[in-house]
Parts: sequence; structure tokens; C-alpha cells
Amino acid sequence: MNILHISSSARRSQSYSNRVAQRVLDELRGRNPGAAVVTRDLARDPLPHIDEDFVTATRSPDGPQTDEQRALLKLSDALVDELLAADVVVIGTPMINFTIPSTLKSWLDYVARAGRTFSYSEAGPKGLATGKQVILVAAKGGVYAGNPALDFQVPYLKSVLGFLGMTDVEVLEVEGTAYGPEIAEKAVEAASNKLQARCDRAAVAA
Ligand SMILES: Cc1cc2nc3c(=O)[nH]c(=O)nc-3n(C[C@H](O)[C@H](O)[C@H](O)COP(=O)(O)O)c2cc1C
Repeated sequence: MNILHISSSARRSQSYSNRVAQRVLDELRGRNPGAAVVTRDLARDPLPHIDEDFVTATRSPDGPQTDEQRALLKLSDALVDELLAADVVVIGTPMINFTIPSTLKSWLDYVARAGRTFSYSEAGPKGLATGKQVILVAAKGGVYAGNPALDFQVPYLKSVLGFLGMTDVEVLEVEGTAYGPEIAEKAVEAASNKLQARCDRAAVAA
């Protein structure tokens, strides 16, 4: 089993999404001792925002023309390869200003590649990063059940992942962390309880 772990909270060891994602990884590794885990810590090692060089490198018919563009294509290719090699993708994300952190958005910008992770045909867009199980750990300060219109975190991520072919997404939400440590700890436990069943499915499918 190949596991790709994407971490994106700048709060590092204080982070609830990191804590629950770590439990997910411990469970998966416990059930699959031979599992290989690749971690991309986007808070520690953020990707450069995409720019003109990136667009030329990845989209121009002539391909990259400069060393900078070749380096960007190589980085994007490596991230795509990591994603395509994964059987399970574990993503930890905080909610930042009602959506995902810009570091995680940058990762999506690097892996959403026409011809590699999606394609267009007369039948419409087709996701190419298929056959993966995604476990999404989403922490947020507020609670959005009563106001889902403001939640651009989980719905956005599920939409993009689905566009790339990842439709098997289990969401573990850690909600209301801004309401104090007691409520936050309860949310961590609720997410962890939900985890067990998901890991059973992942282990069986591997
Ligand atoms: C810069 C910043 C912006 C935030 N924006 C929101 C927000 O729009 N909505 C919300 O519910 N919580 C927001 N929060 C609170 C975080 O989502 C909350 O602290 C969550 O636990 C962060 O995830 P983590 O514990 O994995 O770091 C924000 C936190 C920071 C630091």
C-alpha cells in the first residue's frame, strides 16, 4: 500500500487536523505494516505559487524553454507521480478564511494537469487519478452545519478531487475548535471514532 500524506496546517503540533491525520496514518500503518508513506508538509515546505513560467512549462505546446520552466515542470511531474502512485491519500486541512490554506491550493495547482490527472473529450472532462481512497481531515474553528453556504473548504476539495477522478472521499471533520479546548477535544474524538470504519475499508481494499 502506498500512502500519500498531505499536511497543510501552519499550526504544526498544535494542529487538530495534523493530530487526527496522524491517527489515520497510525491506523493504516498498523493494519498494513509494509505500507510506504510519502509526506508532503506544505506548511513547512510551501510550493511556489504558479506563475507565467509554470503555465508555459506545463501548458505551452513547445514545452518549457528555460531552466526555471524545466524545474517547475519537473516539480509538477514529481507531485503528479506521487499522487498517481498512491493507493490512499490522507489530506489534513484547516479552514482558513472559509476555504483551504493557499499552500494546499498550490498543491492542487501543481497536480491538476491536463493529460496527466484529467483529460477533456467530447464526452466532457474525465478524471485520471482514479482508484484511490481519500481520507480528508478538515479542522475548522466554527461549525457550519447551520450555515453551509459559508463552507468553501470540504465542498471545494471534494469537487476538485472528484474532477481529478478521486470520488471515494471519507471526510473526518473536526469542527468548532475555536470554542475552546474541551469542545475541540470532543471533536477530535468524534473524528477518530469515525476513522475506524474507514480504515477497515482501506485495509480490505489494499
Ligand atoms: C488565518 C486563520 C484564518 C481562519 N479562518 C477561519 C474561518 O474562516 N472559519 C473558521 O471556522 N475557522 C477559521 N480559522 C480557525 C481554524 O480553522 C481552526 O483554528 C482550525 O482548528 C485550524 O486547523 P488546525 O487545528 O488543523 O490548524 C482560521 C484560523 C486562522 C489561523
